[in-house]
Amino acid sequence: MTATLTLGDGLRRATEHLGKTSETARLDAELLLAHSLGRQRIELYTDFDRPLTDAELDGYRDLVARRSRHEPVAYILGEWGFRRLTLSVDQRALIPRPETEIVVERCLARLCDVEAPRVLDVGTGTGAIALALADELDAARVTAIDVSADALALARENAARTGLDIELLEHDVRAGLPDGPWDLVASNPPYVEPEELDTLMPDVRDFEPHVALIGSGTTEAVARAATAALAPGGWLVLEVGDGQAPETAALLAGLGYAEVVTTADLTGRDRVVEGQRVGG
Ligand SMILES: C[S@@+](CC[C@H](N)C(=O)[O-])C[C@H]1O[C@@H](n2cnc3c(N)ncnc32)[C@H](O)[C@@H]1O
Repeated sequence: MTATLTLGDGLRRATEHLGKTSETARLDAELLLAHSLGRQRIELYTDFDRPLTDAELDGYRDLVARRSRHEPVAYILGEWGFRRLTLSVDQRALIPRPETEIVVERCLARLCDVEAPRVLDVGTGTGAIALALADELDAARVTAIDVSADALALARENAARTGLDIELLEHDVRAGLPDGPWDLVASNPPYVEPEELDTLMPDVRDFEPHVALIGSGTTEAVARAATAALAPGGWLVLEVGDGQAPETAALLAGLGYAEVVTTADLTGRDRVVEGQRVGG
């Protein structure tokens, strides 16, 4: 006869097991248990003594096993929060990160005085930046491009899921940007150098699409193309990798952007660089 496990026991065991491969073992264990029971995470806290049925335990074990093989929690859950939105996520596109929310904040700060701004998101992935801007800036007309047809299909699903109206185009930034003029170009381009791939955590390297991660020269391609596509006075807002802000700021200054500013993320790392197109 096997002893009955409660929710609290299940969480403790899963946390211990996941601690071998995840730095966020307790959080992962809670998110996966809530998902497998079809409950909110907060609801677990009043139910720690409730016994788990065999079927519930089997379902939970399967999810914990996937996580212990490094599959990101967001892909297991199939959805993830970004700003005010809940977006569908799967291996067709990068999981939206907290630092990318700062990109959206900087875009909102630059667009607050522009009436009906025209905005372009380059490399939209799930559609995170484009959809958050459409959501938080009522009058904005937002276009998003990606070279990946898979990512665009997911972004289209997210536009339908959120009921937000954005234009989605399959387009490679290396061929320039769609005709503007744009009041703002935002981008979180792939910024990992090919030789750095092996240094990434397996959760990222083995699950997220490499076209979203590896990007030799993509940041420069976006910055160059935006000089031609931005309206005079328009803004370029770029997410950069940890440690890349100084070289990106120098790149923008060298391309003639003015007011080049760097913003740190919540952990104090410089992760967003922006500049203004001058001239007429
Ligand atoms: C780091 S992901 C960012 C996804 C999303 N914007 C976010 O912040 O979560 C980079 C995205 O750029 C796209 N991408 C890569 N190379 C590109 C190119 N040459 N032209 C357009 N998009 C590209 C990838 O498919 C991927 O969706």
